[in-house]
Amino acid sequence: MKIAILPGDGIGPEIMAEAVKVLQALGLRFEMETAPIGGAAYEAAGHPLPETTLRLAQQADAILFGAVGDWKYDKLERHLRPEQAILGLRKHLGLFANFRPAICHEQLVGASSLKPELVAGLDILIIRELTGDIYFGQPRGRRSAPDGAFAGAEEAFDTMRYTRPEIERIARVAFEAARKRGKKVTSVDKANVLETFQFWKDVVTEVHQDYPDVTLEHMYVDNAAMQLVKAPKNFDVLVTGNMFGDILSDEASMLTGSIGMLPSASLNDKGQGLYEPSHGSAPDIAGKGIANPLATILSAAMMLRFSLAQPAAAERIEAAVKQVLAQGLRTADIWSEGTTRVGTREMGDAVVKALQNH
Ligand code: NAI
Ligand code: MG
Repeated sequence: MKIAILPGDGIGPEIMAEAVKVLQALGLRFEMETAPIGGAAYEAAGHPLPETTLRLAQQADAILFGAVGDWKYDKLERHLRPEQAILGLRKHLGLFANFRPAICHEQLVGASSLKPELVAGLDILIIRELTGDIYFGQPRGRRSAPDGAFAGAEEAFDTMRYTRPEIERIARVAFEAARKRGKKVTSVDKANVLETFQFWKDVVTEVHQDYPDVTLEHMYVDNAAMQLVKAPKNFDVLVTGNMFGDILSDEASMLTGSIGMLPSASLNDKGQGLYEPSHGSAPDIAGKGIANPLATILSAAMMLRFSLAQPAAAERIEAAVKQVLAQGLRTADIWSEGTTRVGTREMGDAVVKALQNH
């Protein structure tokens, strides 16, 4: 089992060190190879996604990714910006299906920004289409506005687009996932305004005919944003496009206490996957040793389950994380009165220790 380890920038290397430690403590045979990506790779090799890093990612059975990005690269040309590395990996590897579970751990109910009764027991799955939509649609650029009230003024434009096969395959992923859970899919769109998302709604409705055992509901994205904070437990599987999914999944993360708790998986049609915390490189806390490594550790658990056929090892990690939370250990982002504040490394060490019991 070959795992590509891509720590990246900011808190990336700090949280990755803890996840690697946890993987090593499992006593399984992995081959782990590390490569620079993002700003770290730009510094070392002049490009955020060097050829050698891409090759390592392509050849690995699974990829564990930290985070990329820093304000100090904001002035670089777009293709050299660290964020292009993760977009490039998703595109090169065809990682179209992004799974972002939002689970509120029993011990963290009080850390959520919502009332405890709204989030206690929360377990929803956001599935975000990851390689299409306005993030990749061409044409895009800047020009002189060809028409309209401001014809001749400088303008910028992007293109929102989805093909039928792209919608069909993500819809199937969502219905299959719902079959194994609460048997309900909420497809989120903006069909009332956007042609792209009227098409999305039509295609999802067609695919649903193959899944009569799963309930399908459609919801406009603005309403979905509201329902996520009003009654989040009404969702089971939420499927949506790249941009809406980006925003709604960050919103959902706060229901659970902290974005520092949330893992994610991005899969292609060969079952190969990239696993990463849902958060970014957190430059505001980088180098302080206070970042929460649990999202990355839980991403490693998803990797074991989805790409490496090691479900028992995944469960061991998840049980160990539950145990350290039950012991009252908390990084700063999830700390509350009466719990014990620990740093990044202590949290990783505690998970490694807890593995002995699971
Ligand atoms: P962010 O997720 O890095 O940080 C948002 C807030 O959450 C910050 O206050 C941060 O301190 C906190 N936070 C994030 N992860 C945490 C953790 N593990 N433990 C404790 N607190 C945590 O998002 P932001 O600030 O919008 O972006 C920072 C940089 O990250 C930017 O350059 C952005 O482009 C990049 N980014 C990269 C992503 C990736 O690599 N996949 C995803 C999102 C953003
Ligand atoms: Mg985001």
